[in-house]
Amino acid sequence: MDNKELVKEALAAREMAYVPYSNFAVGAALLTKEGKVYRGCNIENAAYSPTNCAERTAFFKAVSEGEREFAAIAVVGGPAGEPPVDFCYPCGVCRQVMAEFCPDEFVVLIGKSEEEFREHTLSDILPHTFRDADLHK
Ligand code: THU
Repeated sequence: MDNKELVKEALAAREMAYVPYSNFAVGAALLTKEGKVYRGCNIENAAYSPTNCAERTAFFKAVSEGEREFAAIAVVGGPAGEPPVDFCYPCGVCRQVMAEFCPDEFVVLIGKSEEEFREHTLSDILPHTFRDADLHK
């Protein structure tokens, strides 16, 4: 699966976003090292704080199926019902979840369309990470 295909998966995942409160639909597609893709969308809640971001939905689906090794994630977001108007970067909580399971070189694709996307690494978007090793257990 190449980068463009992964962004396309994220755009498809975005179609499932449940966003009655923000009307901001996000899709993510998480690629395992073995080449399997897990899709995620944001899922909102009337109580607001239980809302789950698209990226975490994808990670939690994958981890709960036993996946532990990941190569890349694609993220797309914007007002629901129209194509993304801008690049949508992961929130801080989602970056921290990525750091739990992924190395610094993990690829983060931020797309506006399958033709237009930026490629980053996890360490670009989350430097000076706090991980398991930092607990000095
Ligand atoms: N959201 C995501 O799903 N991922 C991000 O990277 C940024 C924000 C969601 C949370 C909420 O449902 C909506 O976008 C507006 O914040």
